[in-house]
Amino acid sequence: MEDRFGRKIEYLRISITDRCNMRCRYCMPDGIEKVSMDRILTYEDILRIAEAAVSIGITRFKITGGEPLVRLGCPGLVKNLKAIPGVEQVTLTTNGMELARYMDELAAAGLDAVNISLDTMDPDRFRYITQCGDLAMVMSGIDAAVASGIRTKVNCVPQKGFNDDEIEKIADFAFEKGIDVRFIELMPVGSADAGSGLSNEDLLERLRAVYPELEPDESIHGNGPAVYYYIPGKRGSIGLISAMHGAFCDRCNRLRLTSQGVIKPCLCYDETVDLKPALSGTISDIKDKLAEAISIKPKQHCFNDDPERVEKRQMSQIGG
Ligand code: GTP
Ligand code: 5AD
Ligand code: SF4
Repeated sequence: MEDRFGRKIEYLRISITDRCNMRCRYCMPDGIEKVSMDRILTYEDILRIAEAAVSIGITRFKITGGEPLVRLGCPGLVKNLKAIPGVEQVTLTTNGMELARYMDELAAAGLDAVNISLDTMDPDRFRYITQCGDLAMVMSGIDAAVASGIRTKVNCVPQKGFNDDEIEKIADFAFEKGIDVRFIELMPVGSADAGSGLSNEDLLERLRAVYPELEPDESIHGNGPAVYYYIPGKRGSIGLISAMHGAFCDRCNRLRLTSQGVIKPCLCYDETVDLKPALSGTISDIKDKLAEAISIKPKQHCFNDDPERVEKRQMSQIGG
């Protein structure tokens, strides 16, 4: 289905939990209240929503959290989503801590691609930014993903004075593994301070200085807002998600479903459509609510011009 700006909405990000086994400072700071399980959508509800979504042309699904792998049964959900007629792709975004444990099951369930967060390769920094994460476990997760043959990308959010000296190292790591790395501009969602993020314009300049042979890469790497570059002779590409500076909203293809059953038409705003009342009805009732969410989808984010309207909830609560 198209929205009022002619954008084809074909992708739904499904947050299956707002819980996480890390506490990344910009995504899930201390003091965030856990939502009780009875307020979280059941997998049955999620599957009905997906069925309704397919009926209006949404055929690709991204499973997110919080951390999706802390909710039991995630591989089963992947399998059941893939079994819905019309579903073309199911992918997962994870912090990687539990990935080594679940990778085989996820691959067997038919997962199409996985994105893993990797802000730093320094164990002490990693512990600092995640507050309780274990870099070695994430590295094992990345290795398991690469070994599975499933398309794997790593996500890095460069932050001034924290990891901005590691950009080239993380890019080299991705080249060595033959996977893509995406650098994401920090967005001022929740308590994240976008001022401490690095602009992708500056980052591209830095990358060009190190890799003068960098070329735009027009091939399709995913469904998201990243723009890719490659270096002839190297495996893997560098993606830039210029969330603050890039005008990618004009090709936005997505809705977001929170773990509590609310549709967010745009990441940036707190305007939502609650699906829950429709869940006791028919698939057609759910479909109508999804169509309503598409009809109010804003033209673009307002991170730079209307901070008052920017989402105050944390990224972990809305699914990234
Ligand atoms: P694929 O390319 O299909 O792998 O999807 P993706 O890049 O959207 O997936 P991922 O979950 O790894 O998200 C990477 C980053 O992009 C996260 O920081 C997201 O918050 C950000 N992002 C994803 N979609 C949007 C969007 O629609 N708008 C904005 N502003 N940021 C987004
Ligand atoms: N701005 C940009 N990216 C963010 N992420 C979490 N919070 C933010 C933010 N405020 C990233 C995580 C993860 C991805 C799903 O979203 O680092 O890689
Ligand atoms: Fe789409 Fe909103 Fe993200 Fe822009 S900020 S790409 S409109 S979800």
